[in-house]
Amino acid sequence: MCGIVGYVGDRRAYPILIKGLKRLEYRGYDSAGVAIGQDNTIDVRKKQGKVKKVEDISDNGTIQGTIGIGHTRWATHGAPTDLNSHPHRSASGKLVMIHNGIIENYDVLKKELVKRGYSFESDTDTEVLLNFIEEVRKSNDVTLEEGIRLALSQVVGAYAIAIIEEGNMDRIYLAKKGSPLVVGIGKDEYFIASDATPFLEYTKNVVYLEDEEMAVLDRHTGLSIKTIKENVDVDPKIHKLQMDLEAIEKGGFDHFMLKEIYEQPKSIRDTLRGRMLPEKGIISMAGFKEYESKFQNAKRLLIIGCGTSWHAGLVAEYLFEEFARVPVEVEYASEFRYRNPIIYEDDIVIAISQSGETADTLAAIELAKSKGATIFGVCNVVGSTIARVADAGAYTHAGPEIGVASTKAFTAQVAVLTLMALQLGHLRGKISKSQLHELLVELDGIPEKIDWMLQSDDMVRSISSEYASTSNFLYLGRGVNFPVALEGALKLKEISYIHAEGYPAAEMKHGPIALIDENMPVVVIANRGSQYEKIISNIQEIKARNGKIIAIVNEDDSAISELADYVMKTPHSNEMFTPLLTSVPLQLLSYHIAVLRGCNVDQPRNLAKSVTVE
Ligand code: G6P
Repeated sequence: MCGIVGYVGDRRAYPILIKGLKRLEYRGYDSAGVAIGQDNTIDVRKKQGKVKKVEDISDNGTIQGTIGIGHTRWATHGAPTDLNSHPHRSASGKLVMIHNGIIENYDVLKKELVKRGYSFESDTDTEVLLNFIEEVRKSNDVTLEEGIRLALSQVVGAYAIAIIEEGNMDRIYLAKKGSPLVVGIGKDEYFIASDATPFLEYTKNVVYLEDEEMAVLDRHTGLSIKTIKENVDVDPKIHKLQMDLEAIEKGGFDHFMLKEIYEQPKSIRDTLRGRMLPEKGIISMAGFKEYESKFQNAKRLLIIGCGTSWHAGLVAEYLFEEFARVPVEVEYASEFRYRNPIIYEDDIVIAISQSGETADTLAAIELAKSKGATIFGVCNVVGSTIARVADAGAYTHAGPEIGVASTKAFTAQVAVLTLMALQLGHLRGKISKSQLHELLVELDGIPEKIDWMLQSDDMVRSISSEYASTSNFLYLGRGVNFPVALEGALKLKEISYIHAEGYPAAEMKHGPIALIDENMPVVVIANRGSQYEKIISNIQEIKARNGKIIAIVNEDDSAISELADYVMKTPHSNEMFTPLLTSVPLQLLSYHIAVLRGCNVDQPRNLAKSVTVE
């Protein structure tokens, strides 16, 4: 987690860094800081809290330097305090550094440095790393670049770092392992950031630093990259970004989350576009095509992810089993990686990640790769680490998702996975050409149905007002909508801090039913499907115990509408596609409840969007 930015060129660095940090706040917002080089000295401004706090303690007009680095923090080592905020300064006062990641052997390094007379201002692993670099450089009497390289060769952990030096106002030193770092190449100016959003208006030409690479950005000579271990030069490979500035702005909405909920008809269309011809019953996904025969021959699929992405994986389990009749196992990446899983060479591991940077997912991928499995990535961020380490993959084209709670990325993931399941079903002879045609026509109609559902937003808001002060919620769903119940509960927890649990509706009687009384709202996903009658029975059981029912039903439903306290309506659809619909009112419900409770919807406490620590 943590976001880092940097600039060297002819413009004033301060406003570029502040604006850039605000765009990266989704990565962490415990504290922030900038360091600007001017007249051969470095001015550091940092503060606990959001980037705005740094602005409050800085007088924009007086900070003139044209080189600088900045950081927004999600605390790992050391509480979020002013002193623990980045940038950190080395003992000599000459070097200033920002860091995203965790140095695992920082304790050993710190003890060694203390023996050599170093003392530390902060509790961070970052300050240890910086002084270690300084010490290695001094004791080996080498250049700063070589000192960084030698020091990092002895470091265990993850890092994306940027260092500037007093008396050296032309250069930013960079290194990366396990945390993202992208360099923006302008005309005689250079940018760095954890993702490209901070410098979108200045350049679309980027170089992604690879793991175990370091680089020097020099305002006169440009970018030079080398490997840390082997000390071998690497040719920078320039990529052209497709992203627009508009995509990362609120566009008239109060919050990014609301904008992103409303963007779903478009993001699903963008995700499906060019990958299917409904009228001809054809699916064509480039990344999938390449591995078609592997998919066809795979005896099982393993799906890994974290948080919302794991929920998309659970939906996919139902989709692949239903359409392709292939066994699927879905795992939390964090569990998978640590439990010595049995992985065969003909396994396909589908790794789902919005950010493409989640540390646990990445580590699980590496483990599966080392056992010979094929990795298929489903990522949203183009050029992200997971997208690059996967053997093949399909992007979710949801556009940048800024709200920490995932919404449009989830439905886009489900859309991609639906296409994959349908295509695999067709290849395996489980879905005929005419069935595929019908299913694709149906899938093509989903964005329009979401548009229709969004028109009931006012009604969802009024339901929310009844429950804004509730302390607990239960979410129930069956079949392919069970993961939607989990996702609905997660959304509410994340942004409103209300305790919520998701359950398969039939499991209610094995425990959660004990919680039901007149104060317990139960959200039931009850649109018509193969288990409709069973859901009605579950609702009756809740009613009998005076629980309050908020049900998602079909537009023409009457049976459940009579039983429920409130209903949210969805159009009819093939049952397997309903998660794309039923998740939308649940997103709106949690959004409105959180707003009514005065919560920071886009940046909920303690969370970060991109979790690059284990
Ligand atoms: C964090 C985010 C969640 C996200 C999860 C996995 O917890 O707050 O919204 O679902 O990480 O992230 P990924 O980028 O791998 O999908």
